[in-house]
Amino acid sequence: METFHHVKQPSLELLESGYSLKGKWKEEFFKNNNPLVLELGCGMGEYSVGLAERFPKKNFLGIDIKGARMWQGASSSMEKGLNNVGFLRIRIDWIEKCFAKNEVDEIWITFPDPQLKKRRGTKRLTHPVFLKRYEKIIKKNALIHLKTDSQFLHGFTLGVIAAKDYILEDSINDLYAAPVAREHMDIKTHYENIFLEKKIKITYLRFRLK
Ligand SMILES: C[S@@+](CC[C@H](N)C(=O)[O-])C[C@H]1O[C@@H](n2cnc3c(N)ncnc32)[C@H](O)[C@@H]1O
Repeated sequence: METFHHVKQPSLELLESGYSLKGKWKEEFFKNNNPLVLELGCGMGEYSVGLAERFPKKNFLGIDIKGARMWQGASSSMEKGLNNVGFLRIRIDWIEKCFAKNEVDEIWITFPDPQLKKRRGTKRLTHPVFLKRYEKIIKKNALIHLKTDSQFLHGFTLGVIAAKDYILEDSINDLYAAPVAREHMDIKTHYENIFLEKKIKITYLRFRLK
């Protein structure tokens, strides 16, 4: 992982002392001024890599704490010669220490752990605790996408969107049975393929922060 020029693995200590890339991802890491899109809990980074191939005028950064999974995305993006995708190995809980206000243009959350136990509710990546963190780094009216196999997490997130008065733009609880295709539907993640093999329905929603 350390040999990849497009992977960063800052420690919490380094982030707390003031991270040099905070506020400078576009200019110093991607070396352009294109929009910055994050994939949270990216695992092997299929969305980061797949979207980077489809949208060369946007920058994609996959974020996860697990290095072995991230290595797969880092290797495949390098083999494909993509220069608009990178990876950041951190706990998502530290995200405000990595990005400045208004630095992020869009967020994808792909198959996060639904954290079904009530006492672990604040660990859900669409819990208001996490949304408050995203609000500090994302632009006004920015889009957040959630793709999950968990009908529970889909419903929970719809409740949060309503309670927070965010703008719901799309919501479907059986993506592949929908009559209208979404442009990203052909990108499938490692976990998604496992759920599809088990015939579990995949849900999708997209909303805007205010
Ligand atoms: C079920 S996996 C999904 C991975 C990938 N998106 C996919 O669909 O194959 C959830 C991922 O989220 C990561 N994750 C969950 N909570 C996290 C947190 N607080 N900080 C960093 N990574 C986290 C885990 O390490 C794991 O790789």
